[in-house]
Amino acid sequence: MKRDFIAIADLTREELEEILGLAERLKRELKSGQRTPLVAGKTLAMIFEKPSLRTRVTFQVGMTQLGGYAVYLTPTDIRLGERETVADIARNLDRLVDFIMARTMSHASQLELAKYASVPIINGLSDLLHPCQVLSDCFTVRERRGSLDGQRIAFLGDGNNMANSWIGAAARFGFRFALACPKGYEPDAGVLQAAREDGADVLVTNDPGEALDGADVAYTDVWASMGQEEEAEERKQVFAPFQLNAKAMKAAKSDALVMHCLPAHRGEEVTAEVIDGPASIIFDQAENRLHVQKAILVWLNDQLLRSA
Ligand code: CP
Ligand code: NVA
Repeated sequence: MKRDFIAIADLTREELEEILGLAERLKRELKSGQRTPLVAGKTLAMIFEKPSLRTRVTFQVGMTQLGGYAVYLTPTDIRLGERETVADIARNLDRLVDFIMARTMSHASQLELAKYASVPIINGLSDLLHPCQVLSDCFTVRERRGSLDGQRIAFLGDGNNMANSWIGAAARFGFRFALACPKGYEPDAGVLQAAREDGADVLVTNDPGEALDGADVAYTDVWASMGQEEEAEERKQVFAPFQLNAKAMKAAKSDALVMHCLPAHRGEEVTAEVIDGPASIIFDQAENRLHVQKAILVWLNDQLLRSA
């Protein structure tokens, strides 16, 4: 059966563990010089409505390492839903490629692509979610700590696509997620409710100290996401008390890790001292995007093969 990777919570814990296990194997093999052609001859279309460094490069390099090929469609190339409908784009591409990865303005476009394409859709970021980043971050935390169980992950900033995906992940893994955000910038109510109904241990507070108290991981992201540039100045004022700096870090455990999905704005959501300090693992996170996304591609491909 065709499966998609649009939200972490769409998969069971066992399925997510399969992907993390595969990522571990692929990373080990790559480090020992092996290139395992697990999607040989297959093609990935990459639709981008927003800019990208990591997502684009890791998917493209990942496909090459797996023996496949990636086609990059720039924001101006196909103009999702504008030059032609999302449904028509899905119905064209699925005759031509084996997977579609899309970074879209609207989450509805992800669901529309998944509905009309017979090939797997991978969400490379939407306004609602960024599941590839967060699954990869789960991999990074597990790699560092041995297990996600019992970890306390604190996130300072916006209740945005990153925060929403962490909440979805908390519904599948055994960590506690605490978000500190300004009033009016809470995460998506539907995502939060669904996660809590699934037993997620999630705290949403307006107090950064409360979120960071005893944290194993201190996470942050930009205050104005792509598409919110016109709100950037206003957000700088509203979010100022939520900066991840040395003083804020005092509330976390003394060996707490510092994480950021990048791109980072030093001096805004995080100080240079903290993000460039010894606790920061931001470039491990960036590298692990490659290994985890390769595993997502291989896993989606395996689902197709199993049902063939
Ligand atoms: N973290 C992340 O998704 O980076 P890009 O926007 O550069 O892809
Ligand atoms: N919240 C950010 C994440 C970037 C990877 C954005 O959507 O721009």
